[in-house]
Amino acid sequence: MEDSIEVILQNYSGVFPTNRPHPIFSACTGALLTGLYGLWSLFTLPGFRKIPWRLKVPYLPSSKDQTANVMKLLEGRSGRLADLGSGDGRLVFAASAAGFQSTGFEINSILVAYARSKACWTGVPSRQAVFVKKDFWKTDLSSYNNVTAFLAPGVMEVLGEKLLKELSDDALVIACRFPFPNWPQQSSAGFGLDQTFAYDISTVRSYLRSEAKPAVQ
Ligand SMILES: C[S@@+](CC[C@H](N)C(=O)[O-])C[C@H]1O[C@@H](n2cnc3c(N)ncnc32)[C@H](O)[C@@H]1O
Repeated sequence: MEDSIEVILQNYSGVFPTNRPHPIFSACTGALLTGLYGLWSLFTLPGFRKIPWRLKVPYLPSSKDQTANVMKLLEGRSGRLADLGSGDGRLVFAASAAGFQSTGFEINSILVAYARSKACWTGVPSRQAVFVKKDFWKTDLSSYNNVTAFLAPGVMEVLGEKLLKELSDDALVIACRFPFPNWPQQSSAGFGLDQTFAYDISTVRSYLRSEAKPAVQ
């Protein structure tokens, strides 16, 4: 009599290994991934609860090339600089080394603490580099004539509106990786993910005014 397929499979079940991982292995992998996620969110998310979902931007540090591209676009400039979402402070340190009075606004207290201690141990005086634990959306930026921002594509339009309201005509804005939609670039540096874009606020204002004018028939 021919065996049914169930009987055959039962007979061979000890011979062929199944693909299922051992339950202890699965449990350990799950625990490890949960731990890694917890660690990641500890560094990237504190302070975010009060920020509306569409304006949330996680931490991602600028690469060396991106930082160099920002500094290239700042050549010939001086004065006060604000980095919006300063992370571990790398753009602020680079700008302060180039002579800017730099302020980093950062919502993540761990990153602010790290940047402040780095300023301490590297001997950067507070008149050159300051790190403020503050939501930049709730900060008046009118006293800064240089602004840098490495954020996210979804926030650039709203950020553009804020900067146009607050910055003076002589201000320069540098956007890292994600350009402002509808703003004419003055120049850019680098390529791909490290590309940075410079915008002269008076040029942006004139351009937007001319765009808003109805065409003469
Ligand atoms: C993409 S990272 C850029 C970090 C840094 N500027 C750099 O170039 O390495 C964006 C940073 O913005 C911070 N951030 C996001 N929203 C913020 C807000 N409303 N106010 C202050 N910091 C904010 C995040 O915590 C994160 O550290």
